[in-house]
Amino acid sequence: MNCTPCPQPPQAESEVLTTRGTAAEWRVLSRAITAAFADNASVSPHHPCADCLRQCQWQRLARELRGQGRWEEGCYTRTPILEGDGFVAMLMCWSPGVSSPVHAHSDAETKVKSNCFMLVIDGQLRETVYEPRSIIGSDAVAADEGESRVHDSGAYTYINDSMGLHKVANASTTHRAVSLHVYAPGWKSVQLYDEARRPERVDAGGASIDVDEWGDF
Ligand SMILES: [Fe+2]
Repeated sequence: MNCTPCPQPPQAESEVLTTRGTAAEWRVLSRAITAAFADNASVSPHHPCADCLRQCQWQRLARELRGQGRWEEGCYTRTPILEGDGFVAMLMCWSPGVSSPVHAHSDAETKVKSNCFMLVIDGQLRETVYEPRSIIGSDAVAADEGESRVHDSGAYTYINDSMGLHKVANASTTHRAVSLHVYAPGWKSVQLYDEARRPERVDAGGASIDVDEWGDF
């Protein structure tokens, strides 16, 4: 007996054999993050939350979370999407060209230090990090001492106050960017810093000190 051949499924470039349903990646990730903080409350780059973000399928996540953030022209917005014991996860939407100010990650009032885990899920972000030695006085950093790097979609990064301060910007002036941030613990407000010129060092007579010249020693 001749059978009619079964219809062949269309061969997509990257074939999806199964589907876990709507918002499955976020469901998996949010459970993993919650479990990570139930087990470990330390402030450390090696916190298990880092692996949760590094290992997630960020393209799926970007699709699932699309529409959950808010867009404001010329601004970046923060939308809390998960809150648990000792952490808060925020979806951040970056309009083209916008930048955060330089900031710390300790709660400004309580001084409790926090982890900042960041995963870019759409677009590109430029992060500029200022090491603690670049802090001038109580509320400024030496503007020319920041180290910048661009994080593409899917890139993961981490910072805490022992490592330094940072500012984050949309690296593109034409395209939007979206990132997922986990702060642990969450904070009410953080200290902001001006980017300033480092004051010139002067000797007792008021002359500037040029450390490259032998005569200054
Ligand atoms: Fe930050």
